Amino acid sequence: LPSELGELVTSHMREIPDFPTLGVLFRDISPLFAAGEDFARFIRMLAAHYRGRIDAIAGLESRGFPLAAPLAVELGLPMIMIRKAGKLPGPVLREDYELEYATASMEIQPFTVAEDQRVLIVDDVLATGGTANASINLIERSGGIAQEFLVLMELTDLGGRARLPERVACQALLTL
Ligand code: PRP
Ligand code: HPA
Repeated sequence: LPSELGELVTSHMREIPDFPTLGVLFRDISPLFAAGEDFARFIRMLAAHYRGRIDAIAGLESRGFPLAAPLAVELGLPMIMIRKAGKLPGPVLREDYELEYATASMEIQPFTVAEDQRVLIVDDVLATGGTANASINLIERSGGIAQEFLVLMELTDLGGRARLPERVACQALLTL
């Protein structure tokens, strides 16, 4: 992936101390989505890299959606939503995973994935890897191939990459 992609993320990111809770340094990528022509160029560069290598793009709620949808349109490919539990009408498949003090769940409508479709899964941040793992399982349980997991930022301290299955390539535009 071209290094200009990581440079665009860096130049359109804010760092907010103590959000959403004390002690967390939150990386906010809203400025990238609001950047107009720079965001359009960002999407076109991603599309150029992935053209011909994938058959569909899955976005993770909620900040994966504004990445996956324009990329899917640019490539003329299907866009798949993976959402927090309880938001999608059934039938759905569900994956539960552990957070620090609770559990979380993600869901997919399996009919949105075609058999053996090569799916690129996209999100803003890889932290503990729980969301990433759940999304890979949902794509595979739906009959697709989790071809690659792409994030704008990987927070290496949280060890998410080590929790992903080796068969899925994980690409981060920035490692922090
Ligand atoms: C954040 C982020 C990823 C996930 C990464 O989403 O956008 O989806 O957490 O964390 P993990 O690697 O530890 O699973 P969040 O739960 O804040 O949801 P939101 O995008 O709907 O605000
Ligand atoms: N930014 C956005 N999402 C996140 C972060 C962050 O810094 N950490 C965990 N999820």
